[in-house]
Amino acid sequence: MTRGDISATLRAASIRGLIVLAMVAACSGSEREVKEAEVERARTALLPFKNELKSTFLKGLEEGPVEAIAVCREAAPEIALHHSTSGIEMGRTSHRLRNPGNGPADWMNPLLESYVKGSSEPYRAVVLDDRRVGYVEPIYIQKPCLMCHGETVAPVIAGQIEQLYPGDLAVGFEEGDFRGLFWVTIPLEDEEQ
Ligand code: HEC
Repeated sequence: MTRGDISATLRAASIRGLIVLAMVAACSGSEREVKEAEVERARTALLPFKNELKSTFLKGLEEGPVEAIAVCREAAPEIALHHSTSGIEMGRTSHRLRNPGNGPADWMNPLLESYVKGSSEPYRAVVLDDRRVGYVEPIYIQKPCLMCHGETVAPVIAGQIEQLYPGDLAVGFEEGDFRGLFWVTIPLEDEEQ
């Protein structure tokens, strides 16, 4: 190899290095911090879903636990869909699922894990690859939840749950336990980048 060959090889190598660097820089566009305004928009988008779910659920409980199961089953996805408009999507997920249809998207897994490990952050927000922001809030078990998610579930409820959700993992919780996440995705604010 001549001296010229060597320097050409080195140049080619450093150009390749630059290209790799440029690609890394381009891909890490999604590493930018979530803006406060985006957090605010996500939180605002989630609020009516949370409120409507709660009031519908309380109404269901007044009619009886079996009716409340129907509310959880049918109303929750409907309410989520109803509030998911103009590029905003939302729902609930968990590390211990009752309905596998509520399974987490990839980006939710590390967030679920951080709460399972005891994080007490009131919310987490991340920039996603598809120019969206993913925002989650933890859900904790309260007393009324134990009826259907606790250690001991009345036979009439347990029977119903077993029939509807054969692979149910969402029992055995105690008050205060982390139960899962509310999640919402919104488009990024327009950026001047
Ligand atoms: C009357 C029974 C009942 C009660 C009480 C109840 N749930 Fe559920 N829960 C269900 C059912 C049924 C589902 C499955 C809903 C579906 O099919 O999407 C569910 C699903 C969930 C999910 C979605 C993730 C998954 O596992 O599919 C979360 C989160 C959840 N419940 C949290 C709670 C919390 C928090 C409370 C108390 C505030 C509560 N639940 C009270 C019956 C109940």
